Amino acid sequence: MFEKLFGKKKLHDQTDISKRFNLIGRVGQGSMSKVWKATDLQSGRTVALKVLDKEKTAKFEERFRGLHKPSEGEVAMSLNHPNIVKTHEFGWTLEDEMFLVMEFVEGVGLSLLVDLQNEEMKRYRLRYMIQIGEALQHFHQQNWIHRDICPRNVMISDEKCAKMIDFGLVVPNTPDFRKPGNRTGTASYMAPELIKRQPTDQRLDIFSYAVTCFEMYTKRFPWDAAMTIDAVLQHINKPPVQISTLIPAIDKQVAAAIMKGLEANPDQRWQKVGDMVGEFRDAEQRLVRLAREAAAKAKGVAPAEPVKPAEKKTSPVLPASSAQPPASSAKTSASGPPKSNPSVSSARKGKRRPSDDDVDLNEMFGD
Ligand SMILES: Nc1ncnc2c1ncn2[C@@H]1O[C@H](COP(=O)(O)OP(=O)(O)OP(=O)(O)O)[C@@H](O)[C@H]1O
Ligand SMILES: [Mg+2]
Repeated sequence: MFEKLFGKKKLHDQTDISKRFNLIGRVGQGSMSKVWKATDLQSGRTVALKVLDKEKTAKFEERFRGLHKPSEGEVAMSLNHPNIVKTHEFGWTLEDEMFLVMEFVEGVGLSLLVDLQNEEMKRYRLRYMIQIGEALQHFHQQNWIHRDICPRNVMISDEKCAKMIDFGLVVPNTPDFRKPGNRTGTASYMAPELIKRQPTDQRLDIFSYAVTCFEMYTKRFPWDAAMTIDAVLQHINKPPVQISTLIPAIDKQVAAAIMKGLEANPDQRWQKVGDMVGEFRDAEQRLVRLAREAAAKAKGVAPAEPVKPAEKKTSPVLPASSAQPPASSAKTSASGPPKSNPSVSSARKGKRRPSDDDVDLNEMFGD
């Protein structure tokens, strides 16, 4: 009654974003939001300001009416991981749209690198895959299901660090949200159980992560491109293309880990994303060790320093040496990648020896 007479009750504080932020420029138009690079006049920081589309967000939230689904702002604030964009705060505009204030990531979208398949992508993709997997592991440990893992929702910073940026479709990993029904996400990355409206759980993210890794190597989906749910429905019963038939030089352990993530039956898939990432980490360490040994052999000396055993939890940015390609394949990008390992460089300059066949350095970068 009161609300009818005096207008809608204000549920939360509102912010005049035109006063609070100096908008530098639009950086993104997502399907659910607008994103600006801005100066936060309160903190002085350069930030990404994401303003959610009110109608689209309300329509999405409506699907979960009565379930107390946390908002994108609340989800974003719960996350604290070096490979997930940091959200400083969230609030509501004078028009009652939700806005998020995030660290601004200078860099490019992972989808651009998937399309380009340039030297940077070949050189760093295993590192990026590990970082994205670790970010997803953090999501899962916070008991969320992401539901929209795909290259569009990952940025690669100029420091060569993968950052997840979008939490718009995240739901809690609780029985109410695992019930069949809501096919939200991006069609080509959707797990079969989601498409078939069966019960879902965090393993659907493992499937989408595996599709993303597949694309990072091949620039294509594991099936014929599927842009609509109807098209996806036709192909989910077919087995995926073997990644090693498309990229014969791919490391076998990496290939097997990706293919296991694509299993249609979630019971056959990796059960925990950490286990899949563990395979990538092991492969990376092995490839680095082999590359160092090959370099040392080519020089006719023992490896300069022993390779440290794998640490279960990698540092936010893997050591440059762990993603170091041979000098012959390393092109300097504008943003300045780490310097190449001199011992590897000299090995590649030297005459190819039969023993080099043990170590296909290109395998590491999956050409
Ligand atoms: N923290 C950030 N730093 C820099 N750019 C960003 C940041 N967050 C988002 N962007 C840019 O804005 C675009 C849209 O962001 P986001 O994916 O979060 O929006 P969305 O509306 O939820 O997208 P969609 O539903 O289409 O995936 C991104 O692709 C990226 O270019
Ligand atoms: Mg997005």
